[in-house]
Amino acid sequence: MSFSADSSFLCHLPRVTIIGAGRVGSTLAQRIAEKNLADVVLLDIIEGMPQGLALDLMEARGIELHNRRIIGTKDYADTSGSEIVVITAGLPRKPGMSRDDLLKTNAKIVVEAAKNAIAYSPNAIFIIVTNPLDVMTYLAWQATGLPRDRIMGMAGVLDSARFETFIALELGVLPADVKAMVLGSHGDLMVPLPRYANVNGIPITELLDADTIERLVERTRNGGAEIVELMQTGGAFFAPASATSVMVESILLNQSRLLPVAAYLQGEYGLNDIMIGVPCRLGCGGIENVLELNLTDEELAALHSSAQAVRQNIDRAQEILAGVTT
Ligand code: NAI
Ligand code: 2OP
Repeated sequence: MSFSADSSFLCHLPRVTIIGAGRVGSTLAQRIAEKNLADVVLLDIIEGMPQGLALDLMEARGIELHNRRIIGTKDYADTSGSEIVVITAGLPRKPGMSRDDLLKTNAKIVVEAAKNAIAYSPNAIFIIVTNPLDVMTYLAWQATGLPRDRIMGMAGVLDSARFETFIALELGVLPADVKAMVLGSHGDLMVPLPRYANVNGIPITELLDADTIERLVERTRNGGAEIVELMQTGGAFFAPASATSVMVESILLNQSRLLPVAAYLQGEYGLNDIMIGVPCRLGCGGIENVLELNLTDEELAALHSSAQAVRQNIDRAQEILAGVTT
């Protein structure tokens, strides 16, 4: 008895394209495949590298007990018909660099990648990961012309996970029991919200004193740089890949999770024409809803400062792309 090797006529398997098969991209491919969420196309400009990674991941399938296909390529034609496109292409930080130092190189890479990808997957939902995150997400939105529900940036899930981790370590509790939310840009001006952080419903303000909370907030703001300083070569990638996979999962499985993501704002929080981290409900249509939290005057002012910094860098990036400045 023999079976047909091609069962593609029977069912449509979702496909996620990851542009940039570096540390974040390849770890994300592994997460998506091992969670059995979708087939993955890994694209990179380095010849042979995405193909090698894809083969390596495919060879683990029997052990990890999943049947997802992983394709490595440098050809955008192989990405066609993707449900989700994740852009991680670009340079990571070196010690001493801020995320904004990456602006010039990464702006060109992200705009080119976004344009190429949308040409082959016109119905895809885009998730941007490349830094500086909020600016790159804005540029990709402009380059693709996508409606705002179909393009977003990953940062808030990671920053919130870091805040949750530091709270859990301080209190000696299970990390999964801690819930926290970090809004704003993915940078020094991010806005962790201790008022909304809790351990199984108990506000952390009942469990920790103000100085300790401030120390954990500062560590969260510095979370990416702390890892860059330790590693010296590149930055974090395990937690960033996990955070991105949660967004992919909520979209593909229509879970409607409420997650902080960089979204295009049109008046929410008094902000306009900006990409910045706010709580959004993610489902099969992408961003189904932007939640407007009640913020104190101080929290709102911090969000606006964060947005102002993103705006300055968007203007700078646009000048660079237009060739007005270098
Ligand atoms: P990496 O250097 O390991 O990987 C980047 C990959 O992009 C490389 O394989 C490179 O060949 C590829 N690439 C460069 N130009 C390309 C192009 N034009 N087309 C396709 N591929 C291209 O870097 P890593 O650690 O994976 O980080 C990737 C980006 O994600 C960085 O900008 C980093 O700062 C950012 N990042 C953002 C996070 C967030 O929370 N938003 C968290 C972690 C990283
Ligand atoms: C991080 O926060 C570098 O943005 C990256 O780890």
